[in-house]
Amino acid sequence: MVFGPLPQGAPGNDASTLRALDAVPDRDAVRQVLDLGAGRGRTTFALAQALPHAQVTAVEIHAPFAGRIAERAREAGLADRVDALCGDMAKIEVAAGSIDLIWAEGSIYVVGMEWALALWRPWLRPGGCIAFSDVVRWTGDLSKEARAFWAAEYPDMASEAAIRSRAEAAGYRVVAGFRMPKAAHDAYYVPLAARAAELAGCADTDVAQVLAGLRREIDVVRRFSDEAGYTFFVLQRSDG
Ligand SMILES: C[S@@+](CC[C@H](N)C(=O)[O-])C[C@H]1O[C@@H](n2cnc3c(N)ncnc32)[C@H](O)[C@@H]1O
Repeated sequence: MVFGPLPQGAPGNDASTLRALDAVPDRDAVRQVLDLGAGRGRTTFALAQALPHAQVTAVEIHAPFAGRIAERAREAGLADRVDALCGDMAKIEVAAGSIDLIWAEGSIYVVGMEWALALWRPWLRPGGCIAFSDVVRWTGDLSKEARAFWAAEYPDMASEAAIRSRAEAAGYRVVAGFRMPKAAHDAYYVPLAARAAELAGCADTDVAQVLAGLRREIDVVRRFSDEAGYTFFVLQRSDG
């Protein structure tokens, strides 16, 4: 109810998506793409347009979002190259070595980074890549208020150095890592703030509780924007 009308489910914009895609070695040879936790499909369609020879499978657990992606694929004349699979990214069956590129913008946290890096590696062909974004600690020490917020909301939040080490230990080389710019954060948080304002005064106590949490997140992200934010990583199977 709160999130349905929003254009996307996490920070990100097509400029950042395409910047990460450009870092994928030999990107024009990519043929099989999995977009995991695809939401409303912003990344699915950005990837399908940028990779005209690729098959893109969006995996999304929320049936209305998966349905929206399938409908948009038909409307855009992309139904032969874009599939929408309504399912759990942790439970889908994927043939070993069959995937060139796994995309997980704002969604790797769903299964946990360490677990995801181990689970997804055998799906990739040697030299295949994973691109993901996640909220990351950008400074050595967070301010007290930011630290308390993120400890409660995302206790697994790591530093960029820790994520690089984790990726290398899991059998990947890090081919790119960049902090998403303000515009990419605004693409999510500005419509989210507008939605929270629109629903202010809603009598439903569950909705009111969700809104209070969102307002707090928007406030902390804005005031401590130099301490934590979304970083994009592109990893390549290190045996490729
Ligand atoms: C934070 S949103 C990011 C959505 C999208 N990647 C974007 O950037 O807008 C996470 C998405 O993952 C979906 N999701 C959550 N758990 C999932 C699972 N186990 N398998 C597949 N999708 C899942 C949610 O429904 C949601 O659409």
